[in-house]
Amino acid sequence: MEWVDHSGRFLLSNNSTFSLGFYTGVDVTTFVLNIIHINSSKVIWTADRRLLLSSSDKFVFEDNGNVYLKKGNDTTWSTYTAGEKVTAMELLDSGNLVLLGENKTILWQSFSSPTDTLVSGQEFAEGMRLKSFPNRNTSVFLDISSGDLILSAGYQTPQIYWSMKGDSRRSNVSNSSNGNVHSVILVSNSWNFYDQNKALLWQFVFSGNSDPNALWAANLGSDGSIKFVNLQRGNLATEEATRIPQNTCSVPEYCNPYEVCYFGSWCQCPTALNGNCRSQPLSSCSSSHQLVDFAYIGEKLDYFALGFVTPSVKSTVNACIEACRSNCSCNVLLFNSSSGGCFLFDQIGNFQRSDPTSNGYVSYMKVSNTSGAKGSKNKKRAIVIAVIIFATVAVIASLAYIGFWYHQKKKSLLDYSEETLEEENFLDSLSCMPIRFSYGDLSRATKNFSSKIGQGGFGSVYVGVLADGTHLAVKKLEGIGQGKKEFRAEVSIIGSIHHVHLVKLKGFCAEGAHRLLVYEFMGKGSLDKWISKECEASKVLDWNTRFNIALGTAKGLAYLHEECEVKIVHCDIKPENVLLDDNFVAKVSDFGLAKLMSREESLVYTTLRGTRGYLAPEWITDNPISEKSDVYSYGVVLLEIIGGRKNYDPAESSERAHFPSYAFKMLEEGKPGEILDSRLEFDENDRRIVDTIKVALWCMQDEMNLRPPMTKVVQMLEGLCAIPQPPSSSQYGPQTSLSFYQGSSGDGTSTGPINWSSNAILSAVHLSGPR
Ligand SMILES: *[C@@H]1O[C@H](CO)[C@@H](O)[C@H](O)[C@H]1NC(C)=O
Ligand SMILES: *[C@@H]1O[C@H](CO)[C@@H](O)[C@H](O)[C@H]1NC(C)=O
Ligand SMILES: *[C@@H]1O[C@H](CO)[C@@H](O)[C@H](O)[C@H]1NC(C)=O
Repeated sequence: MEWVDHSGRFLLSNNSTFSLGFYTGVDVTTFVLNIIHINSSKVIWTADRRLLLSSSDKFVFEDNGNVYLKKGNDTTWSTYTAGEKVTAMELLDSGNLVLLGENKTILWQSFSSPTDTLVSGQEFAEGMRLKSFPNRNTSVFLDISSGDLILSAGYQTPQIYWSMKGDSRRSNVSNSSNGNVHSVILVSNSWNFYDQNKALLWQFVFSGNSDPNALWAANLGSDGSIKFVNLQRGNLATEEATRIPQNTCSVPEYCNPYEVCYFGSWCQCPTALNGNCRSQPLSSCSSSHQLVDFAYIGEKLDYFALGFVTPSVKSTVNACIEACRSNCSCNVLLFNSSSGGCFLFDQIGNFQRSDPTSNGYVSYMKVSNTSGAKGSKNKKRAIVIAVIIFATVAVIASLAYIGFWYHQKKKSLLDYSEETLEEENFLDSLSCMPIRFSYGDLSRATKNFSSKIGQGGFGSVYVGVLADGTHLAVKKLEGIGQGKKEFRAEVSIIGSIHHVHLVKLKGFCAEGAHRLLVYEFMGKGSLDKWISKECEASKVLDWNTRFNIALGTAKGLAYLHEECEVKIVHCDIKPENVLLDDNFVAKVSDFGLAKLMSREESLVYTTLRGTRGYLAPEWITDNPISEKSDVYSYGVVLLEIIGGRKNYDPAESSERAHFPSYAFKMLEEGKPGEILDSRLEFDENDRRIVDTIKVALWCMQDEMNLRPPMTKVVQMLEGLCAIPQPPSSSQYGPQTSLSFYQGSSGDGTSTGPINWSSNAILSAVHLSGPR
């Protein structure tokens, strides 16, 4: 038979709900044989997922009753029904593809060999299996095993990560509820569990919509979770709230292996691995025992499989490491010092951030010991050689440096030296660069720098008008005297960045000692003027405008952090650096400038300039500054945007001064409106209010990794993903290392304001004084 057209469909169920057909794969010349729910375009069954078919391949229903797919001379899939007197093939209204024998007996059905989806009425019985489309190399599986429904990761040694017996959302139906599960069926809004005699044991209700005619699908996704979709309602009908497992992070493949999944479900490679999450541990079964060493992965970790295996008990982490060392199939270990639990694994998926109430596990992985085991004589010799080499290099380097310094000094006596010319040639050669202005041009445009419009980071800003009437903002850089090289880099990087939410660099001037940057002029100035408490009533921004400014700022930062070619950490996010154009579109300014200063300088600088509370804790601790430091500052700005500037003023000794704690408390008490600027009119039911507060609280976590990346912030603000309840207010205090988190169930403790005066952050902030 040759079937052309009808979009590849060739068998339709009588009620036209489902169709069997060839659907194109990644490109239009390859196909898969699928059953599809027509209205929602959801695939509910696939004949053979291993191979894509081409147009010369055949789907055969043979006279002898066999049905198969033929690729060249190979049969890639078959119902194996040859000789079974098949009389008809039908696609039933339920979506079940059946081969019927005499008297309409079912000889084969697609419902008995499901792929990764079950639909209403489809029985899933012991011996059947759902297999997810693989993520990287790993598939996950749903099986009925030992009288329970379980999910497992298909590693070399499979790892169970969920069971229905252990899910508290399940309800027992009969008193025989500890019977063994033999089959499960989706019935209306619940998943029903039956024993061998078809007696109902348990129910798992996954939706409030109890319409008996609703058509549901349960889909096992590549990340390892099961989601429920109302097929009649199409794509938007996933019951997010009732995914299995309940916790987004308790699955093997939400993140890449070794990455940590955080509560809000963002992924992060543990700091100890230096972003190198793709390197695999050493498999020591084939290599020599002595060459094994252990690399620290991280702490406060949890792992999805821990609840399903019994650990050995060790008194110390070293004992656990030794157990792993002497077991060649062990590649990764997790250890909890309070319980002594020592878990050994050969392979690992993503970690998750440990449960709020526990200390979590530390983890190590096997690596090869490159230095050791060659005998101490060799070692000593190596050390001696290293010392000699080091000394020689040091001497040469210092001679070279002295020579260089002398040369430089001599050179710097001449103004307009060779170097300057070289620099100018370099700047001119950058073809796609912003316009180069002369100092005279800019002097004229700014009427000899007469109208100052701001004292931004790194220098004063003046308004200028070109001969053609274009307005400019001219920034005269100060204190970057010797930074010629940096200036070149700066101009070339900033000049190449274009984004709607970033202020555009239009030009520059580098003449003699003068360094100026020329930006597009932003009609409404900087954000601080629009949210301060002194701002006139007529200037108060409405809720929509504020929300859009918050979102735009987030998008600008997300671009700097994650989308442009060189990652740029801003280091000075505050309302003064968020500029507004004539239509109140937010644009981040001054990005790229932080690189010109060392950390200490910018800290002193920022504090003296009067930035209050925007600094993430790592500015004053030893933790490295990263884009997550910007996320923190962004969180503060976010609260200020919606709350009005007065609310984050540590000089005010009221409870409101402890704004994050206060925000958290109001959120818990269901009074988010209290946090908003009292001059604002808003709709109590606007989801964006609670969402914005939650996002801000997530951003302001002391612990860097708990803060979401900016792209996630954007998604959360846009309502594209769920926002989990942020950790309690105790998190917004200093150095809260243990039991820091209060679960979303909320037992109501520790929500009071914390003692900020003991906080080192605050002491730095106090230095600044009022603006
Ligand atoms: C197909 O549907 C029609 C109504 O749409 C119904 O009358 C008929 O009995 C159905 N046929 C089968 C085989 O179910
Ligand atoms: C996937 O599996 C294949 C074969 O089992 C292996 O060769 C390959 O390295 C694996 N890739 C990854 C990313 O693990
Ligand atoms: C060896 O390690 C594997 C994990 O790779 C673990 O399953 C097994 O129980 C360990 N054997 C012993 C004796 O600890």
